[in-house]
Amino acid sequence: CGIIGIVGTAPVADRLVESLKRLEYRGYDSAGIATLEKGHLSRRRAEGKLRNLDAVLREAPLEGHIGIGHTRWATHGRPSVANAHPHATTEVAVVHNGIIENFRELRDELLESGANFESETDTEVVAHLVTRELRGGRGPVDAVAAALPRLQGAFALAFLFDGEENLLIGARKGSPLAIGYGNGEMYLGSDAIALAPFTDTISYLDDGDWAVLSTASAEIRNSANARVTRAVQKTTTGSFLVEKGNFRHFMAKEMHEQPEVVAHTLAHYLDMANETVQLPELPFDFARLERVSIAACGTAYYAGLVAKYWFERFARLPVEIDVASEFRYREAPLPANGLSIVISQSGETADTLASLRYARQEGQHLLAVVNVPTSTIAREADVVLPTLAGPEIGVASTKAFTCQLATLAALAVAAGRARGALSTEEERSLVHALVEVPRLMNEALSLGGDIEHLARSFAKTQDVLYLGRGTSFPLALEGALKLKEISYIHAEGYAAGELKHGPIALIDEKMPVVVIAPHDAVFEKTMSNMQEVAARGGRIILLTDTSGAQKASLETEATLVLPDMHPLVAPLVYAIPIQLLAYHTAVVMGTDVDQPRNLAKSVTVE
Ligand code: G6P
Repeated sequence: CGIIGIVGTAPVADRLVESLKRLEYRGYDSAGIATLEKGHLSRRRAEGKLRNLDAVLREAPLEGHIGIGHTRWATHGRPSVANAHPHATTEVAVVHNGIIENFRELRDELLESGANFESETDTEVVAHLVTRELRGGRGPVDAVAAALPRLQGAFALAFLFDGEENLLIGARKGSPLAIGYGNGEMYLGSDAIALAPFTDTISYLDDGDWAVLSTASAEIRNSANARVTRAVQKTTTGSFLVEKGNFRHFMAKEMHEQPEVVAHTLAHYLDMANETVQLPELPFDFARLERVSIAACGTAYYAGLVAKYWFERFARLPVEIDVASEFRYREAPLPANGLSIVISQSGETADTLASLRYARQEGQHLLAVVNVPTSTIAREADVVLPTLAGPEIGVASTKAFTCQLATLAALAVAAGRARGALSTEEERSLVHALVEVPRLMNEALSLGGDIEHLARSFAKTQDVLYLGRGTSFPLALEGALKLKEISYIHAEGYAAGELKHGPIALIDEKMPVVVIAPHDAVFEKTMSNMQEVAARGGRIILLTDTSGAQKASLETEATLVLPDMHPLVAPLVYAIPIQLLAYHTAVVMGTDVDQPRNLAKSVTVE
């Protein structure tokens, strides 16, 4: 969910909505704002995308110079107007990001003391809790101070009080929240992008902090209620709202940006002239590392899975990897000299952040690969390797994924050199291979027409299987994820060798099987698995290179041919046809490509 708050001197309704547009990547199940009109709380809320809230506001505008706003990704309670934020009593309105874990217990307690609940959300308990304090005679600041310690879980909150035209309160425990400093105005926001139209001067609240804002000042307190100061920074996001340009969807634009942004990212980590890797100074020595543990979610997790193959192969460095939601709780023993890598586009994913904190507690070196340099994960890691993908708006990750791969490839090669697993000559040939990636990506993008054609038949199927071996296995997983996310067609990715242990039972003349098989060391093995599909009358879509296409002796329904390339870089380039296939299928299906149902770009709840 996304939060915005303004305590100002000019009308806020339009500006709250403008800011929410920038926060829509955090959820778009419903949205709402509350302001003080003639001193009293007024709300407007709508189910679905922001344009619905816009329509409500056109019918029934809101006045007021102070207000809060919210865009929701549903956790407790289905998307509906009643469950949309702000939640309010006659005394206080609140917007919330995160989960109040003990809400049932609080709700029972509040019901007993006579509170009337209007929604199924966990958020509403916060409004009632504060209201009870207010009715007990406390002022707003003391009421919040009394209520906050009762809340368990990870959350960010913003409060607006009836009759208080110069007071906003924000609180942060787990979920991000920033304060913006304006000219005679102050702001609260989930991130710098939300605040960018108003100010470039912000400070991030630390965990446990809460802040009391007026038009002229921000007073920050920590969880022990002591006054604290937090660094004030200038942001560089600029007030631009990212545009689609000539593309129909952000996803299309972002896929086509890949040659450029991957080139940027590579240029950041490679010394192209000398064909060596050039990383910032690292506070640990790769040669002495016992093990790497990687944790991430979604597409970022698959980037990590590719990197596992690279670290093991090129640096002879053992790697364990897990999805962050498992890693954070499985109490994995981590070695004394271990490196923990977290990978995240947003740098805010709750489970990934918790994994980083677990690794810190276990004494690991902490390295983060993130796309948002001001994010919480970036701020908490020992070393940050930024991916230079630029803002990614489409919910389905594309350019962030390939930039993560580019960064991790450079890191794996650096590790290989430091551990003596790669000679200078080998390093040079790997760097040389990486330098070719943007060109190869351009060639991959030119398969768009063929893939569009293929997508028409994909759109008619119910299930799709993706197969691959080696680094093409994580790509099979990513291919299936992309298709599920945006076309809602059921898809599964499998290690090609596992086919015979179950999924082969699904093979029939209807289900397409996408085989990802660059002509690498495991090509022949994958071909055998493809034979097994063919022998059972399966529909094969083969994704390979020129050499692979010559060697593959089978009839396929379609073969997509990429140029030959070094096996190191295949995942970066093969990602493109996989993305294009999901994209064009979704377009044929007519789904909401950039904001698919039920998903959010940044998931700050666990
Ligand atoms: C969400 C997004 C995915 C993304 C995942 C991890 O589920 O929809 O596209 O891969 O979160 O996000 P992160 O920002 O940590 O990379």
